[in-house]
Amino acid sequence: MNIKKDFPIFKTHPNFCYLDSAATSQKPQVVIDRIKKFYEEENANIHRGIYRLSEQATEAYEQARSKISSFLGAKNYDIIFVRNATEGINLVARTFQEPGSILLTELEHHANIVPWQLTRKKIEIVKLNEDQTLNLENLLIKLEAKPTLLGLTHISNAIGTINPAKEIIEKAHASGTKVLLDGSQSVPHMKINLEDLNPDFLVFTGHKMLGPTGIGVVAIKKEIAKNLPPYQGGGDMIQEVSWEKSTYLPSPARFEAGTPNIAGVLALQTAIEYLEKIGLEKIREHEKDLFRKCWNALKKEEGLTLFGPEDPEKHAGIISFTLDYAHPHDIAQIFDSENIAIRAGHHCCQPLMNSLSVPATARISFYLYNDESDIEKILIALQKVKQTFK
Ligand SMILES: Cc1ncc(COP(=O)(O)O)c(C=O)c1O
Repeated sequence: MNIKKDFPIFKTHPNFCYLDSAATSQKPQVVIDRIKKFYEEENANIHRGIYRLSEQATEAYEQARSKISSFLGAKNYDIIFVRNATEGINLVARTFQEPGSILLTELEHHANIVPWQLTRKKIEIVKLNEDQTLNLENLLIKLEAKPTLLGLTHISNAIGTINPAKEIIEKAHASGTKVLLDGSQSVPHMKINLEDLNPDFLVFTGHKMLGPTGIGVVAIKKEIAKNLPPYQGGGDMIQEVSWEKSTYLPSPARFEAGTPNIAGVLALQTAIEYLEKIGLEKIREHEKDLFRKCWNALKKEEGLTLFGPEDPEKHAGIISFTLDYAHPHDIAQIFDSENIAIRAGHHCCQPLMNSLSVPATARISFYLYNDESDIEKILIALQKVKQTFK
């Protein structure tokens, strides 16, 4: 797939090797153009104007909601726009108030840990196997206590493990446990169908899937959403307001107080249409291929430790590694001197780093615009790290 040409960043920075899409993706020209078009030609607030431009903006905003719903196969879900996945999880943690404990996994991002610590007293953790896949026996033991909700990342942003979400959600539901699926690293990279996976809540973030920053989505099963209280109050979410009391609109409007990121929503729709045109299945196969080739090359390196399972069916296009002879920050710095952007650190997963007994890892993450030439560059940069530190 030679699609770098669609991404202006690679023209602005020739020979730039971008391997940090798990942090944020680059943006194709069509997404950038969509934002510009909104502000140049369509700008008006939604849900309030009686003039045509405002009505058209409202229609475009609501059409984007429908598009995202069909993209996710989310007929039985309400689609709610938020700022990012973090805000989405905070929304669920604040509004889903059924008493009981919360079950998380060792793979969770801080965004799926801290909101629960802020709102709940009891949190249990599902452990990992030796190969850093989720220990499903441990999951079953933890489910015996019938936790209220399982917060599950679909794909680990830190080490790339893909959780068997459908199987896990079935097991959780058998215990009467609801599931929040964090799709931040899966929705951009594989075909997701909510009818099939059946989580109660799904969150994801637009900027990791070619969209702009400042836009995210929470999908909540309609039968749950209709009973949740508002999360924030203000304009655009009310039916009636008096000094004595206010009444609220039904979901999704109930959860979208104030003027939303209208341009962000429209640009997210454009990003999804771009991804669909290429095909999510094709993107997943492409990343699987890059993962396999890169993993096999790195495996041969002396003093290099790889994290996560080796099986490409269980591992996304994210490769985390450490070197015996260089700190991850030093690795990233040498890579940067070769014009290669990778991430080094705890990846917002400090509890996972503690379980792995490392303070940090170096992380390569692929997306649709990467190709085999990027793997060659990784191997050259690694030689430079070796020359410098070994
Ligand atoms: C698995 C996972 N969950 C949640 C998030 C939070 O995303 P955001 O910062 O866009 O809210 C990230 C971002 O790195 C992530 O990788």
